[in-house]
Amino acid sequence: MNDCLIFSGNANPELSRKIAEHLGKGLGKINIYRFIDGEICLQIEENVRGKDVFIIQPTCPPVNENLMELLITLDAFRRASPRRVTAVLPYYGYARQDRKDKPRVPITAKLVANLLVSAGADRILTMDLHTPQIQGFFDIPVDHLFAAPVIVDYLKSKNIKNPVVVAPDVGGVKTARAFAKRLNAGLAIVDKRRIGPDQVETVHVIGDVKNCEAIIIDDLISTGNTMVEAAYKLLDEGAASVYGACTHAVFSGDIAQKLNASLFKEVIITDTISTSSLPSHFVKLSVSGLLAEAIRRIHLETSVSSLFI
Ligand code: R5P
Repeated sequence: MNDCLIFSGNANPELSRKIAEHLGKGLGKINIYRFIDGEICLQIEENVRGKDVFIIQPTCPPVNENLMELLITLDAFRRASPRRVTAVLPYYGYARQDRKDKPRVPITAKLVANLLVSAGADRILTMDLHTPQIQGFFDIPVDHLFAAPVIVDYLKSKNIKNPVVVAPDVGGVKTARAFAKRLNAGLAIVDKRRIGPDQVETVHVIGDVKNCEAIIIDDLISTGNTMVEAAYKLLDEGAASVYGACTHAVFSGDIAQKLNASLFKEVIITDTISTSSLPSHFVKLSVSGLLAEAIRRIHLETSVSSLFI
């Protein structure tokens, strides 16, 4: 692994450190700073000529800052003659605008893909994209990992009695089905309607949740409205208790208060995005081992697919 260098942006240095630790390496030396007017500047402080470089930067809030920092970092690397540069985005921001669902709107997921490639990414490593089709927005290789193995292992260790996995919207059915199969659980679907950019309404629950321990699985939690609405609906329908689980803790506003312990038995998240202190019913699992193993396999050119669900 001597030719493999791991660099971190400022979005989630703790995750980067853990990934490097799993690989038995230190992080590469890079000095990222701001000019007084806010412009980002940086210098790579070691030779990267001919190396296999991985830059870890989730494009989480503040999304524009973190994305711009990643683009500028990629630009610096492409001018420093590495053999290959992989942009590692544990969380891919701007993914939710992935199609024209009404006239005269942007497709930001595609725009970001174009920007990453133009800036110098040779390949992408990412996790739980909002929709897997975003891989097709790139004409460079994309390795798309799932946090499911980490979350499933944790849920299995809890020996939840009579579990039912719940998709909080129709788009989440495939993922929920995969979890249900692994947990030997039932499956239910919440019929969610979006009534504003950050407002949702749940209308029906499809499937039997009566007396079950419901586990809502989502790719991300932002305002928490999707989780909260689904939890109320499931409790109305007779669920015994509700767990919420997601990969990306985007967390906007007072999430701890919204996803409170009287509504959720546990809220399970991963560390793709760094989070400040959370109440004790929040459980943070690390995906650093999974990302490190993917990096190792990409570098050694062995199969990454066995890490997929
Ligand atoms: C929507 O399609 C996503 O999968 C999430 O359900 C949604 O983005 C969560 O957002 P919020 O927490 O703001 O409801």
